Amino acid sequence: METVKNTLLVIGDPYWPLSVYNKIIADDLQKAIPGLVVSNLYEQYPDYKIDVEKEQKKLTEADNVIVQGPLYWYSLPSLTMRWVEEVFTHGWAYGSEGTALKGKKVVVGITAGASKNDYQGGRFVITEHDIAVRFQATFELCSMDYKGVVFNGGFMNMGNGHADPVMVEAAHRHAEEIISRLK
Ligand SMILES: Cc1cc2nc3c(=O)[nH]c(=O)nc-3n(C[C@H](O)[C@H](O)[C@H](O)COP(=O)(O)O)c2cc1C
Repeated sequence: METVKNTLLVIGDPYWPLSVYNKIIADDLQKAIPGLVVSNLYEQYPDYKIDVEKEQKKLTEADNVIVQGPLYWYSLPSLTMRWVEEVFTHGWAYGSEGTALKGKKVVVGITAGASKNDYQGGRFVITEHDIAVRFQATFELCSMDYKGVVFNGGFMNMGNGHADPVMVEAAHRHAEEIISRLK
């Protein structure tokens, strides 16, 4: 994998100690991106009290931002959404004077338990596009250079630590795809 500089990984996985696939993805990103700054939201803020200034500083210092997490009820987990709500403030992230994020590349990575096909006009009424478009709208409002959502499925985690070898490979490919979007 090629390297990407000044990159911030914001990862939000509520059951981080039990995570199998997001851990693989985060590890791969750390190995591939020298100096990657990792903001593990649930580890830092188990009480949901986000240090807004600290998170804004990390974003200011980053050229590239990766937001990664498991699909939870057809979105990203609540603390990740709260991070957007609290950190992306008016006059800082958006609005006539809110230019802090302007031009920064951003890519979202999502692992789903159900298959990718289920989200492509298959089993569910909601599609991969429906899930992605809220992130596109959010990051484009902040004039970020939106690089899309890397959305992959089949990552069933029963909480028993079992790692399906096929899905381990899929997790590695997921990380590679995230990196390729930032080139
Ligand atoms: C509370 C909860 C909600 C979930 N919601 C969804 C969902 O809406 N759609 C889906 O396909 N998978 C859903 N999943 C499955 C997770 O996305 C899947 O277990 C996760 O991506 C696996 O990654 P991990 O090993 O890092 O935990 C949910 C899991 C939990 C625990």
